[in-house]
Order: sequence, then structure tokens, then C-alpha cells
Amino acid sequence: MSSTGQTRGNGNARVRSAAAAAGTRLDPWYNTYADRALGMKQSEVRSLFAVANRPEVVSLAGGMPNISGPPFDFVADMAARLIRARGTKILQYGPGQGEEELREMISEVMRPDGVRGHPDDITVTTGSQQALDLISEIFLNPGDVVIAEAPSYVGALGTFRAYQANVVHVSMDENGLIPEELEETLTRLESQGKPVKFLYTIPNFHNPAGVCLSAERRPQVAEICQRHHVLIVEDNPYGLLGFEGDPIPAIQTYNPDGVVYLGSFSKTFAPGYRVGWALAPAAVNARIVLANENALLCPTTFGQLSIAEYLRTYDWYQQVKEYREMYHERGQAMQRALHAHLPMCTWNEPEGGFYTWVKLPDGLDAHAMLPRAVTNLVAYVSGTAFYYDGQGHSHMRLSFCYPTPEQIEEGVRRLSAVVNAELELVDMFGVSNRVASGSHLAHGTEIPAPNTY
Ligand SMILES: Cc1ncc(COP(=O)(O)O)c(C=O)c1O
Repeated sequence: MSSTGQTRGNGNARVRSAAAAAGTRLDPWYNTYADRALGMKQSEVRSLFAVANRPEVVSLAGGMPNISGPPFDFVADMAARLIRARGTKILQYGPGQGEEELREMISEVMRPDGVRGHPDDITVTTGSQQALDLISEIFLNPGDVVIAEAPSYVGALGTFRAYQANVVHVSMDENGLIPEELEETLTRLESQGKPVKFLYTIPNFHNPAGVCLSAERRPQVAEICQRHHVLIVEDNPYGLLGFEGDPIPAIQTYNPDGVVYLGSFSKTFAPGYRVGWALAPAAVNARIVLANENALLCPTTFGQLSIAEYLRTYDWYQQVKEYREMYHERGQAMQRALHAHLPMCTWNEPEGGFYTWVKLPDGLDAHAMLPRAVTNLVAYVSGTAFYYDGQGHSHMRLSFCYPTPEQIEEGVRRLSAVVNAELELVDMFGVSNRVASGSHLAHGTEIPAPNTY
């Protein structure tokens, strides 16, 4: 007994010391992680966001939709009705590709974008975020190149980083991605022998830049990628949220065989259901389904059938129109507040979606300024979050989706006090100090807390 106990004790000690030698004091498993896990960086501003979520702080940071709109009584009754009538189905596993009745309705939901997608070519995912993960999983080897707009959606950049991809940015202007620059970049990368796996683009009411890819540029982008044999991943969660007018036809309509189109119910209904989708060429979709089954077995049956019922029995498009009006009002409140309080900055005037992309006066650094903004009870997301390569110090993303018009006015007013104080410091101590401190803070690209998406 004692000798056995002795042996076991020594064995444990050996295991412990081996683990310690392999890892660190804080995490003995440090050297056990896959390279991709070590590439996942925690936000330097995460702790700030814990503060930013306090009620006294006006947050212009979060990309959360305002969900005061959906008819809660209707949704509650619908859930009860569904469980009573279809409980054995709705609480059960389902197909890995997603429920056919929802995929049929998704085909209809994509019609306003001009997309004609067959239900067989659609896979339902856990939000479009999971579709990004599945696409990365089936296409990206470590070191492969993904082209993305500069700036681009932080959640996509985080996924591409997790798969150890190399993101190359292509600039945008007020009409979105610049086709000539896309062409040049693809030609350059080809000549360097670097395989480009896909272009990731957000053509409508871009997160964070707020702009749309113009109607003229869409066929150009499709044609350039087709000629270079580069797949397009068209991420479109905001397409139905234009303040006025009909959506511009999707890039997918110009080359259905060369585009994976992503959609989501998060911004037009409720993100809590976590239901999005990918429409892909048949062979690509077959692999997405396999990857989905590996990851989840099946997407949420409850969420899918709830959304199918909502689409079937509620005037969902009228609800989307009401959202548009609400976001339009908030977007206008943002414009008024910026004109009134931040005339020293420049910004775009979005025609839909959730975001305004603001450029600070020369010499100011959005990343370095953020702690001072939070101290002044206002939060935003620094532009550095939206680049893979350390750019973005001169910009900040201001969201107008969640705060009320009054909160937007107050938040921007507080921000103006911070910007003015920074400008005074720049006058006193010069530009280089401030930019230098900002650059230091921004080393490595940050992944902000989820509520900044
Ligand atoms: C451009 C873009 N793509 C994808 C997503 C992920 O949305 P979800 O997973 O909720 O569908 C977001 C969320 O903010 C987004 O802005």
C-alpha cells in the first residue's frame, strides 16, 4: 500500500513537473495548444469594455441590433404554439444542412437582392459567423491569402487568423472596394506565387465603413475574380436595411458559380436565434454541409423552425421596413451630433446599416484615446480592430443601431470633449508622442469583446 502510494505520488510529481517544463506557470498546457489557438489574440481593450457596458457609459461601440422592435407577444405565443404542436420535431436533432422548410423560405428572403438560390444549395448555420468559420475550414491552409476590404469586419478577421491565413487588404472609397486595386493586388500576388483562396467582401452598408459597393462595380468585381479564378465570399447581413430604395443586386447574381453568399436573420429579426445561412455552388455546398455536421451535427432545430414560422405567419418584410425607419432616425441623429460636436473630424453618411466611420484630426490616435473616452463615459471601437496589419489608428467606428437618438447626441457630445482635450495635448506636446504611444498599444491586432461586433 505504502509503496504503491509512494509510486503513484512520484508519478504525479513527474507528470506535474513535465507539464510545467512544457508550459508556463500560469498555463501548464501552453505548449500543447495548436498554433492556430496561439494566434487567437485577446483584446487589449476587453477590460475597458467591461466598464463600457456600465449603464452610465454611452456605448457607440456595440453592433447589436435594437430588438425592441419584434412583436414579443407574437414571438412568445409562437414559441408556445410550436412546442405544443410540433414539440417532438422542434426539440429533436435535424438534418446537418438545415431544415428544408426554412431553406425554402430563405430562397424567398434572398429575392430582394436579386439572388435566385435553390434550397438544395443552402446550408443553415449558427449565424453567418459560423458560415465564415466553415468556409475558412474548407478552404484555408496556413499561410493562404484572403483578400479583404480595408477596413473589414473584425469577426471575419478573427476567424481568418484562427485558420492562420494571411489577410491582404484592398482599399475602398465611397463606392466600396476599388476594382482596379483588386485587379492589381491579385496580379501581384499571382506573380509572387501566393495562392489567393477567396475575396471576402461586405458589399452593403459595410461593417465598419458604412459604404456600399456601387451597382457599376459589382459586375466588375465578379468579372475580375472569375478571370483570376478567385472565389468570392459575399457577406450580406445588412442588405435589407437600406434607409431608402431597393437593395442593389448582389455580386452573386453576376456569377452564381463563383460566389458563396452569406445571409443572416440576426439584423432583421433577432440574433438570439443564431440562424444564418450560406448559399454556395453545389460542390462547395456539399463540403459546407460535411463541415457543419462535423462542427454541430445540425443547426438549432428550435431556432430554424421558429424563424420559418415567423416568416410564414408574420408580415416580416413590414417589420424590416419599421427597422429601417428606426435605424434611419438613429443614423440621422448621428449625423446631426457629428456636425454639432465633432466638426474637426470627417465621416461618411451611411445610407443604411448600423455604422459611421469617423476619421480623427491629424495626430490623434483612436486606439490610444479609447481609455480616456471611457473615462469620459463614452465608448467606440478603435479603427485598429478592423485591420489585419496594424492600420486604423486615425479612425473610429461609431454605431447608431443600439443607442437612442438622445443617447447618440449625448455620446458624441462627450466624445467631442475627449477629442478637444487630445487636440490640446497635441498642441502642447506635439504629434509624435501621442502617435508613438498609440502604436505601442496597437501591436498585434486586437479582437474586441463580442459585443463590439
Ligand atoms: C459583416 C458581418 N458579418 C457577419 C456577422 C455575424 O452575424 P451573425 O453571426 O449574427 O449572423 C456580423 C455581425 O455583426 C457582421 O457585421
